[in-house]
Amino acid sequence: MECEGNMSRILITGGAGFIGSHTTLTLLGAGYDVIIVDNLSNSSHKAVDAIGALALRETGKQFTFYEGDVADGAFLRTVFEKNKIDAVIHFAGFKAVGESVAKPAKYYVNNLLTTLTLLNTMKEFGVTGFVFSSSATVYSDPGITQYDESTTRVGRASSPYGTTKVIQEWILEDIAKSGDLLLKVISLRYFNPVGAHSSGEIGESPQGIPNNLTPFITQVAVGKRDFLSVFGDDYPTPDGTCIRDYIHVTDLAEAHYLAVKRLLETNDLPEFDGINIGSGKGYSVFEVIAAFDKAVGKKIPYKVVSRRDGDLAEFTAKTEKAQKLLGFTTKLTIGDMAKDAWNWQSKHPNGFDE
Ligand SMILES: NC(=O)c1ccc[n+]([C@@H]2O[C@H](COP(=O)([O-])OP(=O)(O)OC[C@H]3O[C@@H](n4cnc5c(N)ncnc54)[C@H](O)[C@@H]3O)[C@@H](O)[C@H]2O)c1
Repeated sequence: MECEGNMSRILITGGAGFIGSHTTLTLLGAGYDVIIVDNLSNSSHKAVDAIGALALRETGKQFTFYEGDVADGAFLRTVFEKNKIDAVIHFAGFKAVGESVAKPAKYYVNNLLTTLTLLNTMKEFGVTGFVFSSSATVYSDPGITQYDESTTRVGRASSPYGTTKVIQEWILEDIAKSGDLLLKVISLRYFNPVGAHSSGEIGESPQGIPNNLTPFITQVAVGKRDFLSVFGDDYPTPDGTCIRDYIHVTDLAEAHYLAVKRLLETNDLPEFDGINIGSGKGYSVFEVIAAFDKAVGKKIPYKVVSRRDGDLAEFTAKTEKAQKLLGFTTKLTIGDMAKDAWNWQSKHPNGFDE
């Protein structure tokens, strides 16, 4: 597709995935042109079609889609040759914590090679703005419950997946601070992204047994699984279950829009900024279940089982930096997250596979 108008053109790697698809819609809605590169390793043509139909309906605009591997330098170069890219949002990578323990090489190779190849290509084409999909997993300090950006990043995270995020942040920070590529990086450290687009037409489509709480709950609610396992109710929290900071994926998409805008419109940015993206408020597992009971209109069956190794009792974000630098605060509630996640799951019991 040829460039229309004067708006900036953003490359979204992994744009056919859960967070990338919602970010694509937000950016198109804000008037940006979007180029998606995705190899569909965790997505599908059906997902791309659904995102495209929704984009057209909601924004009157379309993105350009390239199916291919971000780690393939020759392929990526053709994408940069055909499109004058102004900034990049890098989502492409593997994210399943459990699988990363069983297959660490798969995670180190894909997550690091995509980032390195992207950096090489950006250097070649003089593209300097980089928004990175990082994670709260880069922090780990059992001594505190609410994390700000000055919390020391761990050397080794609690899984190989998490460690790839730590290493990618180091790579990005070192290169940006060296001045070599004139790179400006905003690394968004997501807390717990949940929910789905309010239309119920796109959402999270995990393969196999979901790693995360809310897709598991919706799969129980839709009858695909018998019950939810609650890992421990004897933590030092008010109801004994673990507390996490959940953020609606639509709010998260807005944070990416604000980060890109900052990269494109602000002079004298620091070379590298890590910014927490969460709501600042924590909900316990039992509180999340109660929100879904309400959204679904029936009780979600669960069983309390023993604690999982490595789970912290409470883990939430301090959000002042996001507010100050990006003007970002979350708008959607835990009730919205449950309602939208359930709307998506009930309309699409098998995700995009049906
Ligand atoms: N969802 C979360 O809970 C969460 C939390 C923190 C950070 N993140 C990070 O955010 C990013 C997006 O997460 P998501 O939940 O949307 O995941 P997702 O799996 O839905 O999306 C990632 C997309 O990247 C694509 N991809 C993977 N490797 C690729 C490659 N080599 N070349 C091209 N495309 C490739 C996949 O096909 C998929 O569409 C990931 O980097 C993830 O680690 C996610």
